[in-house]
Amino acid sequence: MTFRTALLAAATLLCALSLGALQAAEPDNHSPEIPAGVRSLLADPELAQTDFIENCAGCHGLRGTTVPAKLPEIKDRVGWFMCTPGSRAYLLRLPNVAHSRIADNDQLADLMNYVVFVLGGTSVPAGTKPFTGPEVAYERQFALTSISLKAERLRLANESIKKCRAPASLRLQYPGSTQ
Ligand code: HEC
Repeated sequence: MTFRTALLAAATLLCALSLGALQAAEPDNHSPEIPAGVRSLLADPELAQTDFIENCAGCHGLRGTTVPAKLPEIKDRVGWFMCTPGSRAYLLRLPNVAHSRIADNDQLADLMNYVVFVLGGTSVPAGTKPFTGPEVAYERQFALTSISLKAERLRLANESIKKCRAPASLRLQYPGSTQ
């Protein structure tokens, strides 16, 4: 082996090693795996994930986490809003959900079930039923506005804290945020 090829081999190895380290440190650039138990709740798991990437991930991140941006954290938190009929309706009345360009209500229900059951992780209360197309069709008629949203969110977060033992930090955009 000449000095040059040895140097090249060393450089290639170093490159491969640092790439490996980069990938290990940056898992957020991948969509999460859809757990087998959740797959059975979704009509089309791959479409639901793609719809989230295309319509929502630009703001919320592929895994529903954007800390420290001034956005609510979805990852491991959104499920608490499935606590009461009112808080579950809130998720469908969000402006970006109710006014989504996805016109098909079954398809939007599937996307929201991906959001709740995949991104929401362990925050989903036991026994929670998935969203249905007719439920989406009904609730999206009552879209919240940015004015009504803040107070409604606080009211519903307090309800989930009281009734479903959601963490007190649900009142905030993310644990430790100042808003
Ligand atoms: C242009 C950026 C943007 C896009 C696109 C967007 N959102 Fe949001 N989302 C926000 C903001 C900002 C909020 C905070 C409430 C508000 O001001 O609307 C929010 C709030 C939420 C919340 C409430 C979380 C909480 O803790 O109260 C959920 C759930 C959510 N969005 C899901 C979605 C889904 C699903 C989509 C895609 C269909 C989507 N969002 C698209 C910016 C966005």
